[in-house]
Amino acid sequence: MKKNTMTLTNNMTGDSYEYNILEGTRGPSVLDVRTFFADTGMFTYDPGFTSTSACESTVTFIDGGKGELRYRGIAIEDLAKNNTYLETCFLLLNKRLPSKEELYAFDLEIRHRSFLHEGLRHLFNAFPDNAHPMATLSAAVTALSTFYNDHIEMNKEEEFLEMSHRIISKMPTIAAFAYRHSLGIPFIQPDIDLGFTKNFLTMMRAYPGGKMHLCPNGHEEIKNVEVRALDTIFTLHADHEQNASTTVVRGVASTGAHPYVAISSGISALWGRAHGGANESVIAQLEYIGSVENVEAFIQRAKDPDDDFRLMGFGHRVYKNFDPRAKILKSLQDELREELNLDTELMAIARKIEEIALNDDYFVSRNLYPNIDFYTGIILTALQIPKSMFTPIFVIGRTVGWITQWIEFKKDKTSKIARPRQLYLGD
Ligand code: CMC
Repeated sequence: MKKNTMTLTNNMTGDSYEYNILEGTRGPSVLDVRTFFADTGMFTYDPGFTSTSACESTVTFIDGGKGELRYRGIAIEDLAKNNTYLETCFLLLNKRLPSKEELYAFDLEIRHRSFLHEGLRHLFNAFPDNAHPMATLSAAVTALSTFYNDHIEMNKEEEFLEMSHRIISKMPTIAAFAYRHSLGIPFIQPDIDLGFTKNFLTMMRAYPGGKMHLCPNGHEEIKNVEVRALDTIFTLHADHEQNASTTVVRGVASTGAHPYVAISSGISALWGRAHGGANESVIAQLEYIGSVENVEAFIQRAKDPDDDFRLMGFGHRVYKNFDPRAKILKSLQDELREELNLDTELMAIARKIEEIALNDDYFVSRNLYPNIDFYTGIILTALQIPKSMFTPIFVIGRTVGWITQWIEFKKDKTSKIARPRQLYLGD
């Protein structure tokens, strides 16, 4: 069969070069320029990788124009409605949803692996009380690699799965410990009688002995509706194709480093406010705006090219239509409005921003829609989760995506060390 190709002509020399056009199962075609430097002696230039695909993948598909997101072919709307976060983890790792028996076994394994080695527990004492949980989390995950040296050389499927189950199950414990350390309050050990999400909420809130009525935030018990909301948030964060932190994870994977060190690097990359840190910044910004009357002035600032101020939770590199995850969270907010008492001043400010921005030519012409981070903060605030834990919650959800992409990279026999070149302009 004839291959589709593209011919590029150097207008200075008249030389022409032909490149294959690769077809994916979904999404745009890809021009294969792997031999470009060898052919032409030139590099391609694409800062921010706006036109570059750096790998083959079967994990997640995004159509930014249509606002479509799929994990292993299944639409995110279906997963958020019909499946739990753990089912989603199984799907990402195994390329299919689990049977009832498989889910039972997977859940049990995740519960039993959630404890941390006592040595790791002591590490938290080395950090100052006011350390940001993201910094502690990243350091603790690097430290976790020291307990599992055998995860560097893996070939068998069971070894990949054991390594990934371990990190997925320990991440909520590490995140909760990082939070409790930041408050100077004693750690709560995981409870194997509790499911993934309820266990995390318990480790965040309970006092030693598991007495919920004494918990720091005054909650008497963890409501099912809270577990469902957080579980959905985890599912929506589970993977997102080749975003900045995943690209970092794959980059570290390409050097042959330990998988947990790659995850720790992903955590660091996620922390920035242009990426996962936006969820914390959204609420900080809503608090800074202070009241509905001030919204208009801040919208003007966001539009001013001479002002660095940006509306946090708006815009996305890939979505040029509504972020489908944001759509799901917006309807979850509406559904949970009464049950979670979401009608706060922050919610009113958020609604006003949304209303103005969705009708303002500056935002409309640049396709700046609210993204996932615009809505998570309001729900997480209603769950009594402090701002500093918003990005760690993103980490808990995304761990499965990072590790799935790490495994995919490792299994890809054509993968190479990540080593881009540059346009040198120095002396
Ligand atoms: N507020 C005001 N103007 C904006 C915003 C915003 N939030 N986002 C983009 N713009 C403007 C930007 O100034 C530029 O305008 P002009 O063409 O006049 O120079 C235009 O829109 C394109 O922006 P860009 O920075 O070139 O777009 P990008 O694709 O490189 O950046 C982004 C995407 C997400 C980093 C950016 O939209 C942003 O900083 N948003 C706020 C932070 C945020 O919410 N991040 C979370 C992303 S979703 C979760 C995740 O995946 O991590």
